[in-house]
Amino acid sequence: MATLLHIDSSVFPASASSSRAVAETFRKAWEEQHPEGTVIYRDLAANPVPHLTADAHTAGFADPAAHTPGQAAAFAGRLELIEEFERADALLIGAPMYNFTIPSTLKAWLDNVALMGRTAGESPSAKGTPVTVIASRGGSYAPGTPREGYEYVQNYLRAVLVDFLGLDLDFIVPELTMAAQNPAMAELVPLFESSRERAHHDAAIRAKSLAERLAA
Ligand SMILES: Cc1cc2nc3c(=O)[nH]c(=O)nc-3n(C[C@H](O)[C@H](O)[C@H](O)COP(=O)(O)O)c2cc1C
Repeated sequence: MATLLHIDSSVFPASASSSRAVAETFRKAWEEQHPEGTVIYRDLAANPVPHLTADAHTAGFADPAAHTPGQAAAFAGRLELIEEFERADALLIGAPMYNFTIPSTLKAWLDNVALMGRTAGESPSAKGTPVTVIASRGGSYAPGTPREGYEYVQNYLRAVLVDFLGLDLDFIVPELTMAAQNPAMAELVPLFESSRERAHHDAAIRAKSLAERLAA
């Protein structure tokens, strides 16, 4: 039975958050397909994980028997996140764009989970695990748009999730989400609506095919 690790990081509830809403569509399709599977849920906005400290960092490279009390305490929290990450057969991550990049809460989670020589590096422990990232954004940073060069969500996550953690990454990008609220973007509303529709459609399809593949 497969385990899905579902992480949300939008500061808004699902009623006002594109990434949470699309992740919910994914999760529903996954659960329908895979009712006996396990879903581990982390809401990083409601329950942020600690930022990395010197103790948490250095503990990752020291013999556990030689950990100071500070290192032992800091590393215990880190280990919980790492083991949860390694237990997952698939990951689902809501990653809204804040100031051109990911929320700091998601960055803090990544800093805890990425441990050179274990989850990261030459032979990462979760190598090949599929991860679906719902990369919502108020504008559009698609190739050819004026803001293309400001895209530090997909570019950054590709580097960390694929090149560093060895995951098998798929993005779903609900874009132009600010169009409905910003009068200056009124003419982009149809593009926002089609992007939203496509994101929900792709999330359901992706969840179904992953659940089928992992249950086989
Ligand atoms: C603090 C903050 C910073 C934001 N920065 C950007 C930005 O740099 N570029 C952008 O296109 N949208 C930006 N937005 C808009 C969000 O990306 C947009 O509302 C998106 O839908 C957020 O995902 P969510 O709906 O899941 O919360 C920002 C929103 C917030 C709250």
